Amino acid sequence: MSLSFVVALLVGSPAQAEDVHSYARLNQVSTPHLDLNLTVDFEARKLKGHATYTLARHDETTQLYLDTSDLTIERAELLVNDQWQPTKFTLGDVHPSLGRELIVDIGSVAKKVRIHYQTAPTASGLQWLTPEQTAGKQHPFMFSQSQPIHSRSWIPIQDSPALRLTYNATITTPKDLLAVMSADNSLSDERPGTYEFTMPQPIPPYLIAIAAGDLAIKSISDNVAVFAEQYILDDAAWEFADTPAMIETTEAMYGPYRWDRYDLLILPPSFPFGGMENPRLSFITPTVVAGDRSLVNLIAHELAHSWSGNLVTNASWRDLWINEGFTSYVENRIMEALFGERRANMELALGYQDLLGDLERLRPQDTVLNIDLGTRHPDDVFSQVPYVKGQLFLVYLEQKFGREMFDKFLRQYFDDFAFQSISTEQFKTYLKRELLDKKPNTVAMSKINEWLHEPGLPEDAPKPNSDAFAQVEQQMQRWLKGGQLQTDAWTTHEWLHFINNLPLDISANNMARLDREFSLTESQNSEIAHAWLKLAIVKKYEPARERLRSYLLTIGRNKLVSPLYRELAKTPDNLKWAREVYEQAKPGYHPLTQTVNEALLYGEN
Ligand code: BES
Ligand code: ZN
Repeated sequence: MSLSFVVALLVGSPAQAEDVHSYARLNQVSTPHLDLNLTVDFEARKLKGHATYTLARHDETTQLYLDTSDLTIERAELLVNDQWQPTKFTLGDVHPSLGRELIVDIGSVAKKVRIHYQTAPTASGLQWLTPEQTAGKQHPFMFSQSQPIHSRSWIPIQDSPALRLTYNATITTPKDLLAVMSADNSLSDERPGTYEFTMPQPIPPYLIAIAAGDLAIKSISDNVAVFAEQYILDDAAWEFADTPAMIETTEAMYGPYRWDRYDLLILPPSFPFGGMENPRLSFITPTVVAGDRSLVNLIAHELAHSWSGNLVTNASWRDLWINEGFTSYVENRIMEALFGERRANMELALGYQDLLGDLERLRPQDTVLNIDLGTRHPDDVFSQVPYVKGQLFLVYLEQKFGREMFDKFLRQYFDDFAFQSISTEQFKTYLKRELLDKKPNTVAMSKINEWLHEPGLPEDAPKPNSDAFAQVEQQMQRWLKGGQLQTDAWTTHEWLHFINNLPLDISANNMARLDREFSLTESQNSEIAHAWLKLAIVKKYEPARERLRSYLLTIGRNKLVSPLYRELAKTPDNLKWAREVYEQAKPGYHPLTQTVNEALLYGEN
């Protein structure tokens, strides 16, 4: 018997042994299929029903370990000889970031297990909005955000990205609401109140998603449609009109889109992320519907996950860069192919600056790609590192091996690992065999290890720059000396670079002058407004105060609000003001936005 086999027996299969964020024991018994039956109860703010798993037994075990968080487990049943019979279960202690393990007796012959349960109104992976909190004001809205480990707050599940499962679901909602899932949504306008879904491709648990609300539908093409509240439907369909072209472009570079339809769901402004790559139905913040298609790299990003992330998946949350680094790289390639190098370079340069900020802010050990999380909650360590450092690593490889060779490698990678989850170690082995060894003496394994296992950036890392931004900087110098800015040709990107790089000793006069000429305080572009408001806090530019308040009260996308709260928390007066605004905004914020910003405003930093 080989040593590694003995080790595998003792600690579980390699991928599983590495996932410290799940109680699942996938090497003993796994759950390749889920049948979900849930009722959406807006009064109680609960999902109620049952989850039925098909069992795949890999050894003699008679227990199934599931992850739960904040769930009430009512009873468990087994399917034996086509009959449902009750079975015993126990719940473990509550772990602050992992939730509670649920251990179900599954005997040795049952083919299926069923758990009857309810969620809690405080479920970390769900947000419940009252009618008043929606744009239409008539109907409530609810949605899930499962990545990274929040599926367990609405489904008892083997909540590890090392698992893949198919699912069917029956969802009951109040009448007049439409339910959608990360599955085969129908484009019908009817609202029967009961909806059936199938997801035939095996996906990791964090990609199970649901939303219900007063949704309307508009097609962009044969295989792309937008789901949204009526108020934003036409604007969103216009904003994202290039989505079909993005799909074609990505297919040409990296192989077929394997998920049938690609639809977009526009969420209320409290959606905590820019986007979430739920398969067949990306969830999208309304804050990117800017009116000028300037923020559609977000769609390129979520679409890119259909290859990197959803098709080839990180085996654990320590390997998140395998999802986000590859996706940021692919996103930028899509943008370059469709909109040209100038725009792609600007977007990469903006990301690079954000990364440099995070590298300064974070502890060195948290700037490692293959990060050691321990049992910390992955949400607590969210940063640009897996995104932009991961992307730069791939840009580095592209530059060393040439685009042609690197594209071929990537395309093969997506085929070879399609519908599988892989760890950083597995990636390294593959990289060595399929790229490094094919052009010896180009990049040494020690360099790869530096990228993946060392903090910060290697000395010879690419340093993205942009000619367009160099021109912005020249203009800025002239303007600071009293000259005029020529901004007619500026896009959102140039504005962001300009605002982000204004000297910190800029005079109050110059702030006011900018605002007078360009109405930055009133900018309706969520990113430009964010950059300006952050500067306004630093510069104590008081005319922006009320806009800052309304911004924090209407937007819940964490990336746009938390840097503002972080900046406000730096002075006692601002902190006091920020707490007041936060308390008013809190009922409209998602649980994730609440947790992160309460740590900033009430935590001990
Ligand atoms: N999958 C992520 C969001 C995520 C990552 C949620 C990790 C929880 C844990 C999504 O694809 C994403 O990266 N969104 C970005 C998009 C941006 C980089 C274009 C966002 O929300 O800002
Ligand atoms: Zn992503």
